Amino acid sequence: MAETLTLPEGTSRKEVYEALFPQIRALILGEDDLIANLANISAVLKTAFDFHWIGFYRMVGSELVLGPFQGPLACTRIPLDKGVCGACASQKQTILVPDVNEFPDHIVCSSLSQSEIVVPLVHNSEVKLVLDIDSELVDDFSDIDAQCLEKIVSMVRECHYSSD
Ligand code: SME
Repeated sequence: MAETLTLPEGTSRKEVYEALFPQIRALILGEDDLIANLANISAVLKTAFDFHWIGFYRMVGSELVLGPFQGPLACTRIPLDKGVCGACASQKQTILVPDVNEFPDHIVCSSLSQSEIVVPLVHNSEVKLVLDIDSELVDDFSDIDAQCLEKIVSMVRECHYSSD
């Protein structure tokens, strides 16, 4: 069982991610159930950073369907032409929104969310799922988050999608 990380106060966000990488890798390599792994990754990131909402939407048919998450309740289904998640899935690229109030198509699940980052898992040119994180702070995400979250998503891809 993975332990919760204890890091010295003042540790940078990048250092926290770097400490999480081996923990997440070990956690998911030993388990072949995708939902279980997404649930634990949500818990690990929520515990490490205390973001407002963190979770996954899976591509089911032609829309995104809510998967494992940590935080307040969220909308269940997102069409690809709606929201930051839909934009991420249709563009097949990470989307960083410094201020959700400035993003015309943002779907408001919680009025506390101020900034958002969404990272896709793409396999064989298809989006399989997205990792969505909301923060209560404006401009809370940077390229560091994008790179580190993309690395976490690539671990999920290697673990669950590499053989087909
Ligand atoms: N804000 C997202 C919807 C999902 S929630 O934030 C959990 C969006 O615009 O796609």
